Amino acid sequence: MVVPRISAADIVDGHLHITFDDGQRLDLPWFWVRDHSEDLQSFDPATGQRNVDTFSIDRAIRPESVSLADGVIRVSWAGDDPESLLSLATLGPLVSDDRSIRQRRWRDPADATATSQPWADVMSGAKTEPSDAWTAWLADLDRYGFALMHDAPTTLDDAQALADRIGYVRHTIFGGVYTLSAEEVPHADSAYGTDTLLPHTDGTYSHDAPGLQFFLCSERTGTGGESVLVDGFAAAAALREGDPDAFDILTRVDVPGRYLEDGVSLLSRRPTIRLDATGEVEQITVNNYDRAPFVLPEPDLSAWYDAYAAFHEIINDRSSWWIMRLEPGDCLMLDNWRCLHGRMGFSGRRVFHGAYLNHEDLESRLRTVQIA
Ligand code: OGA
Ligand code: ZN
Repeated sequence: MVVPRISAADIVDGHLHITFDDGQRLDLPWFWVRDHSEDLQSFDPATGQRNVDTFSIDRAIRPESVSLADGVIRVSWAGDDPESLLSLATLGPLVSDDRSIRQRRWRDPADATATSQPWADVMSGAKTEPSDAWTAWLADLDRYGFALMHDAPTTLDDAQALADRIGYVRHTIFGGVYTLSAEEVPHADSAYGTDTLLPHTDGTYSHDAPGLQFFLCSERTGTGGESVLVDGFAAAAALREGDPDAFDILTRVDVPGRYLEDGVSLLSRRPTIRLDATGEVEQITVNNYDRAPFVLPEPDLSAWYDAYAAFHEIINDRSSWWIMRLEPGDCLMLDNWRCLHGRMGFSGRRVFHGAYLNHEDLESRLRTVQIA
């Protein structure tokens, strides 16, 4: 994240007017300034938690003076309130784009130039500190929606260690860290077969679909079984450009996903393309295998099928598929809110260990190593 410095703070037209050294400006009402003060009565800098009682602040609070020294804005108030402080810790995130790296969309797999890192290098050092391989690996995940390692040890404990380095293993019907193999089949799900799986996201049946998942290959014989990735953000951008009406439909229609097995009946619904409050694509949710029945009145249903088919066509354009056969010791981590994954049909023995993690824990790790 590139954070500009504060270059000036003044009283302008009844607001606090802040200028940053990259030319950005911010006008802040006085009430907001008092509510966000970093003085130690109002705020705990260690936790970032607010201690001031927002609802006791005078809505008409007015300043006596404003100054800027050592990068900190100080506001003294006309009444009894303590002097308020504002620093870049509070203001920086308001004027910086913490997704700046994330938008390296790739339609052409040749543009997804993630570099496979040696496991030992990624896993050494503190998990909260930048280091060459760890930073490069996380940056790939952030830029391209996936990241690669090689020469990994391949037990379930190793898979657990990788998950621990980022955040927490998500426990689901598949367990915590789990093994995926067509020979030991604990679930009837299509993932445990040997057929081709077209690109999809996992957890369409979960209200909070896993943000990350990984495959650590421990055994491999036979042919086929290549892993496939598609950048869902790039696919959504292509749809938005080529067929804005279809894009709009897929951002508005909730599609249900379900998972059924003995004693389990999971169901959730979300739009295929979920936007954030600014209109940026935040999450792709698509799994035609797991789609549950739903119906719309005509002509909306036909329009939805057309839009869904247009997106399907973009996703299944094989020239946009990133394809790699994972061999023992290879590990593929992917952002399940962004990249769709699939696999080619295969023969032979193919054993992967994997786990799901939360998206917010990836985002947290990216911040602690100063990538985002
Ligand atoms: C899955 C899945 C792909 C593979 O487990 O969710 O899609 O490579 N597996 O077997
Ligand atoms: Zn899957």
